[in-house]
Amino acid sequence: MPQPIRRIAICTGGGDAPGLNAVIRATVTAAADRGWECVGIRDGYNGILQPERYPAGGVMLLTLERVLSIAHLGGTILGSTNKGDPFHFPVPGPDGTVIDTDRSSEILDYFRREQIDALVSVGGDGSLTISNELHRKGLRVVGVPKTIDNDLDKTFTTFGFDTAVSFATECLDRLHSTAESHHRVMVVEVMGRYAGWIALHAGIAGEAHAILIPEIPFDLDKVANKVQEREAQGHKYSLVVVAEGALPHHGQRAVLAPAEIGHAERLGGMGENVARDLAQRTGKDTRVVVLGHLLRGGSPTAFDRLAALRFGAAAVRALDDGLSGVMVSLGFPNVSYVNLEEVAGRMKAVPTDSDTLQTGRDLGVCFGD
Ligand code: F6P
Repeated sequence: MPQPIRRIAICTGGGDAPGLNAVIRATVTAAADRGWECVGIRDGYNGILQPERYPAGGVMLLTLERVLSIAHLGGTILGSTNKGDPFHFPVPGPDGTVIDTDRSSEILDYFRREQIDALVSVGGDGSLTISNELHRKGLRVVGVPKTIDNDLDKTFTTFGFDTAVSFATECLDRLHSTAESHHRVMVVEVMGRYAGWIALHAGIAGEAHAILIPEIPFDLDKVANKVQEREAQGHKYSLVVVAEGALPHHGQRAVLAPAEIGHAERLGGMGENVARDLAQRTGKDTRVVVLGHLLRGGSPTAFDRLAALRFGAAAVRALDDGLSGVMVSLGFPNVSYVNLEEVAGRMKAVPTDSDTLQTGRDLGVCFGD
């Protein structure tokens, strides 16, 4: 049996997602109920690896008082970063170079020194891959699945996704009327990295006429045909949802910035490309709206808030039961645990035979294929 727990740490890494504060609240409360103390690491692992940046301390005590009434708030009270992978930390080298450095041992040393017995790591695939590596090095870790992109495997969904889809759907609802008034094509680019979950779910719920997702390479002529077909039927406007990772049949993804040490490439710009080329092909007035980080901000929906609270409490129960190297997973009717090993480095793409996608086809949505 592992040694009893007295203190645990929480860390939130990667792009933020609505529901992070709910996870923190539930974790701290469930831990306090067991007599455990909780601390929070600031900005991923940077609170430990770059203490000089935090005059008030890179690790903060999380009291019950501190986490009162935060479950409904967007963002994370701990801060987050997607530039702080302890296994690939950018360290300045000679002549302005940057050296890819493994500083992971410093995390384990810190936990030992500060007598922190376990870590609850809340993150997407990058953060959970790091958590898995830390677990392999001997740290007691439980992961919590977070990302608006919903691209994590072995969980029905991640928290943050429902909020992003709800907001994108509301935006589409609004765009219908202005597009119709001006007889325009509106192209709406949404986040999602290499998966099309947000585009697909919001696109169908918001009744888009074409949805372009990374899982189905698209031919823009097919989309132009759809716009013209609608025109011929007397529908003088169209809504096209484009996932940021959408892939043209004979083209490439739109990349805003290349990958750096410890930081993945930044996608974006496909909406602009699609709008420009559609305008050329159809002769229609076309506008582009990039929802971007609006999808990540704001309060979690009730679904995400509840999922996040359940995840935080379940993470503490897992540690109490002696589990480590696992991720809390959402199933029905209960949460369960899966090995981090099964999640790390694996992306959950939209299955092209899913009934949601089929629903889109049955509704006449064009997927560019
Ligand atoms: O993983 C969440 C996400 O929002 C992706 O959909 C997007 O590609 C990425 O983060 C953008 O992150 P940032 O702008 O914070 O680097």
